[in-house]
Amino acid sequence: MRIAILGGGNWGTTLALLLNKSGHQIRLWEFDEPQAELVAQTRKNERYLPGYPIPEAIFVTSQIHDAMQGAEICILAIPTQVCRSVLKSINKLTGRMIVLSLIKGIEQSSLHRVSEICQEELEDFDLKNYCTLSGPTIAPEVASGLPTSAVVASKSPETAELIQKAFSTSAMRLYTSEDIVGVEMAGALKNVMALAAGISDGMQLGYNTKGALLTRGLAEISRLGEALGGKRQTFSGLSGIGDLITTCTSPVSRNRTVGERIGRGETLQQILNEMVMVAEGVWTARAARELAKQNNVNVPITDAVCQVLFEGVPQKSALNNLMTRDLKVED
Ligand SMILES: NC(=O)c1ccc[n+]([C@@H]2O[C@H](COP(=O)([O-])OP(=O)(O)OC[C@H]3O[C@@H](n4cnc5c(N)ncnc54)[C@H](O)[C@@H]3O)[C@@H](O)[C@H]2O)c1
Repeated sequence: MRIAILGGGNWGTTLALLLNKSGHQIRLWEFDEPQAELVAQTRKNERYLPGYPIPEAIFVTSQIHDAMQGAEICILAIPTQVCRSVLKSINKLTGRMIVLSLIKGIEQSSLHRVSEICQEELEDFDLKNYCTLSGPTIAPEVASGLPTSAVVASKSPETAELIQKAFSTSAMRLYTSEDIVGVEMAGALKNVMALAAGISDGMQLGYNTKGALLTRGLAEISRLGEALGGKRQTFSGLSGIGDLITTCTSPVSRNRTVGERIGRGETLQQILNEMVMVAEGVWTARAARELAKQNNVNVPITDAVCQVLFEGVPQKSALNNLMTRDLKVED
């Protein structure tokens, strides 16, 4: 199939390699012109995915209209907070093409998910043509060909099955789902839990704490996800507990690493100044807290993360607040 990938970062480049290997025609859009030229000329992406040559068959461009030309599928592999502006620039171009989002986050300004942003920005957009892919898919492991499973969610079973069949390989096994809300919320909120897990690692709180954090984190993700219309069973699936386990335990998980540095005492600003790649959880934490407030959902871990990240609350005090809340029945 002819596929445009918008975003030549860590995950977009990985998908480009994987799909090119499966025989698809790939056009990769990188918004940063010098970076796009460097990748196109050197056939390497040292900034975002070092160590993996980019075959000549992958067309790399900084011109979004060139990337979109003739595409049957448009893949979104950009940060959540820039997604709306990118969609605005292609609002008339999508026609009947399938839009597949790889994005895991919630927009801070609107509190909307990517499926909602697509409906708002793309002219005559039919949600049946939208799908989202999520799960435990840390890019460098996928790029090196290690076995991976993920879920593709769409309102339309035909759309989800088309992507499932076109993208599955012996190393990438895709499942389908009709629960867009659940899969999008699970993918976004696990990044907030990864920050919490990282803070716990940085404070050297041990494995019991990590186990409790994962369990209560999943309860929190499910509560908020369900309140917004997601299905409970989705949160026990690949995009829920699957991704949560990976992102909260992997040494290379970006959000967990940011949390770990904060747990050791660095400031958020210091860390963000040094980062090349996006850590979605930082922006999604605030949005998730606001969504929870609007929907009367209790999200103590997200609250604690926001206090540490944005309100100068020392991590030890935030931890103490979490542990000494009113005692409850496990739900
Ligand atoms: N990396 C992974 O392992 C992984 C796995 C699954 C999902 N995701 C999700 O995929 C999305 C992209 O992640 P990534 O890891 O590829 O990020 P990245 O930081 O590696 O790459 C981001 C890409 O967006 C581009 N970009 C930055 N600012 C932009 C702007 N203003 N306009 C247009 N493009 C801009 C960058 O140039 C780059 O090509 C995120 O939502 C992330 O959570 C990542």
